[in-house]
Amino acid sequence: MLRSLVIFLVFIPFCSTFLSHPSFIRPLTFSSSTSYSTSTNLYSDTLAEYAAFEPTQSSPYFISPETNSSSKQTLLYLPGLDGTGLSASDQFSDLSSSYSFHRFIIPNSDRSSFISLRRQVLNFLSSHPDSILVGESFGGLLASAVAISPDAKLGGLVLVNPATSIGRTSWDVSVPLLTSLLGDKKDVIYPATAAAILGLTVPSNYQISKITKSAFSQFLLSPKIPAVEDLQALRDGINTLLPSETVAFRVSELLVDGSEIMTARRLSRLSTLPTLVMTGGEDKLLPSKIEGIRLNEIIGENCTLKNFPKGSHFLLDGQVNLTAQIRLSFNKKYNPVKDFELPTEEAQRRYIEENIAPIRKKQSPKFYSTNGNNNVIGNLNYLPTPASGRPILFVGNHQFLGLDVKLVVSEILEKRNYLVRGLGHPVIFGGGNSTASNNFNNDFIEYGTVKVSPANYYNLMKTKQAMLLYPGGVSEVFHGRDEAYQLKWSEKNDFVRTAAKFNATIVTLASAGSFESYNVVKDAKELLDLPLVGERLANFSASVKGPRAGVNETFVAPLAFPKKSQARHYFLFGKPLETENLDYKDLEDCSKMYADVKEQLETDLKRLVDAREEDMYSGSGKVGKKRTKEESLGGTVGGLDVESL
Ligand SMILES: *[C@@H]1O[C@H](CO)[C@@H](O)[C@H](O)[C@H]1NC(C)=O
Ligand SMILES: *[C@@H]1O[C@H](CO)[C@@H](O)[C@H](O)[C@H]1NC(C)=O
Ligand SMILES: *[C@@H]1O[C@H](CO)[C@@H](O)[C@H](O)[C@H]1NC(C)=O
Ligand SMILES: *[C@@H]1O[C@H](CO)[C@@H](O)[C@H](O)[C@H]1NC(C)=O
Ligand SMILES: *[C@@H]1O[C@H](CO)[C@@H](O)[C@H](O)[C@H]1NC(C)=O
Ligand SMILES: *[C@@H]1O[C@H](CO)[C@@H](O)[C@H](O)[C@H]1NC(C)=O
Ligand SMILES: *[C@@H]1O[C@H](CO)[C@@H](O)[C@H](O)[C@H]1NC(C)=O
Repeated sequence: MLRSLVIFLVFIPFCSTFLSHPSFIRPLTFSSSTSYSTSTNLYSDTLAEYAAFEPTQSSPYFISPETNSSSKQTLLYLPGLDGTGLSASDQFSDLSSSYSFHRFIIPNSDRSSFISLRRQVLNFLSSHPDSILVGESFGGLLASAVAISPDAKLGGLVLVNPATSIGRTSWDVSVPLLTSLLGDKKDVIYPATAAAILGLTVPSNYQISKITKSAFSQFLLSPKIPAVEDLQALRDGINTLLPSETVAFRVSELLVDGSEIMTARRLSRLSTLPTLVMTGGEDKLLPSKIEGIRLNEIIGENCTLKNFPKGSHFLLDGQVNLTAQIRLSFNKKYNPVKDFELPTEEAQRRYIEENIAPIRKKQSPKFYSTNGNNNVIGNLNYLPTPASGRPILFVGNHQFLGLDVKLVVSEILEKRNYLVRGLGHPVIFGGGNSTASNNFNNDFIEYGTVKVSPANYYNLMKTKQAMLLYPGGVSEVFHGRDEAYQLKWSEKNDFVRTAAKFNATIVTLASAGSFESYNVVKDAKELLDLPLVGERLANFSASVKGPRAGVNETFVAPLAFPKKSQARHYFLFGKPLETENLDYKDLEDCSKMYADVKEQLETDLKRLVDAREEDMYSGSGKVGKKRTKEESLGGTVGGLDVESL
């Protein structure tokens, strides 16, 4: 109770921000900024893609690499209910370069039993020892049944939204009903029925929109009654791709039989096998997130659980890099500084559309950068590039609640094409006994944030990366209501010394706008003064392990709610400061540099906060609403006069 109260208080602000995101409200997520054509020729693209997978045989078979690559470890992929693995096709080329990649195909007309499919896979594995077996959805159920056999001799097992959870759904009852409805030659009346079937058979909503560009997606975007022809086309399309009898058979025979076989006791035999379980937090077909937790408990210490909060049932459609995930989890020596890899470009684009675009719309951020001659420009063109062979250290004031990091990292990634590694509070990584970290912060980590620690900082410098440090840490993030835009840095100057050792370029980053975007009900101090609650919060705060030993930080989040119309956010990158001629062993010079950095940041912060007074679009409330409305017509309004900065 105590812990949940605190977590509730801590995470309200985060949650409210996320709740404003449409994907939490709409059950089916589409990005609102993509436009779909309303072409009547809906399915040609889809069918063309499927044609590539059209089985020519009537019994299950394996597709194996053409060239003999026996030097590589074998990886075998078992498909979901569609039988082909179309939903994972984005992964195949990467898998083929890292592994001897094989996949199992179950043709539509095949009616092999679960046990027979299992035997066929085991046969294959008997001549491919030490393979990695990957199973998605139904394939995950089959893979787990294969893996418990002593004959499998696997090197590893990967389960992606495995249908081992099927027992806790009503699929076995509802699917035959739905397929019989659709198989009927009557017109389909309820788009919901079609959507359910589509969801079962074709990849994710995202892929549906990507592949079909259909009027049906249009319908989901802006519900209006779709034309009858569209629905007929949809039904015919589905029937061609995967006949309803096939779906009915696979659900009522294969899934049901398989799930009866794979009891918890049998699953526990996986405990000696390195296993990666990947789940989509937004899987609408199976309760995958909960299933992941269950499997993780059953399998125990050899299981790695990875939940992707925004992931759908068809996780492998370009949203994650399966090859990288397997490498990371089966390679225990993973180093977050050196081994980190960015999500795929497609995932990045999607992440920006889904997570950043809505924030940009609300906060209409403006970015400014400064060159060596103190000229300011209204974009990021004056930022240094890491290509010059030196690390870049961005040093900023941490804004209220600290969520603006995402705006900064994504803007630089998009406009300047490099990743800035955030240095984040340990609580993001599940430190401080926080159980909430899994729920909200995966995207920080996915975009390169590492735990702030001397070792990580040193290694980022050593590998010449670009990084973003907030020396004020949590004290600034959870600042009081009268402390906006004040730096709370400690006296230690250690970050400058390491920067000097590696000749880093230091760029200050002044940011404003976050504090004005929230209604603060109680700030940290006021919460701590509350009877009873205050003491509990203080105890919680004491239990949170901060990044720096010996430095007391009060880890108490204010109780604050985002305003409906938020203030504009401003980011001013200061004049780059070189440390090349600074001797890191000279403590005095390093202290002076530290003071210079702090002073430049304070000056820029003041300039920024003053200059925005002149921007008639800076405010929240009515002003914010007006700004959002005018900008929704395209382009941006207002901004700062760079001459005045
Ligand atoms: C691949 O090469 C290995 C060893 O060179 C050999 O044993 C195996 O039979 C070959 N497989 C195929 C399919 O050619
Ligand atoms: C994890 O796997 C290793 C290697 O197979 C095995 O020795 C160990 O007992 C397993 N751990 C558990 C808890 O079963
Ligand atoms: C996925 O990860 C692998 C291995 O880390 C990498 O080689 C590949 O380029 C990545 N693919 C994409 C599309 O980023
Ligand atoms: C936090 O975790 C540590 C180690 O797991 C434990 O000793 C401590 O009691 C926990 N604190 C709280 C407040 O749960
Ligand atoms: C930093 O610059 C100094 C002076 O140019 C040079 O001697 C030193 O090797 C450089 N250090 C690194 C790590 O590049
Ligand atoms: C806070 O911690 C102190 C000392 O550990 C303990 O005596 C007190 O009961 C705790 N208060 C609450 C409300 O948990
Ligand atoms: C941190 O806080 C604790 C308890 O509030 C206190 O005993 C300790 O002296 C403080 N440490 C520092 C370095 O301020």
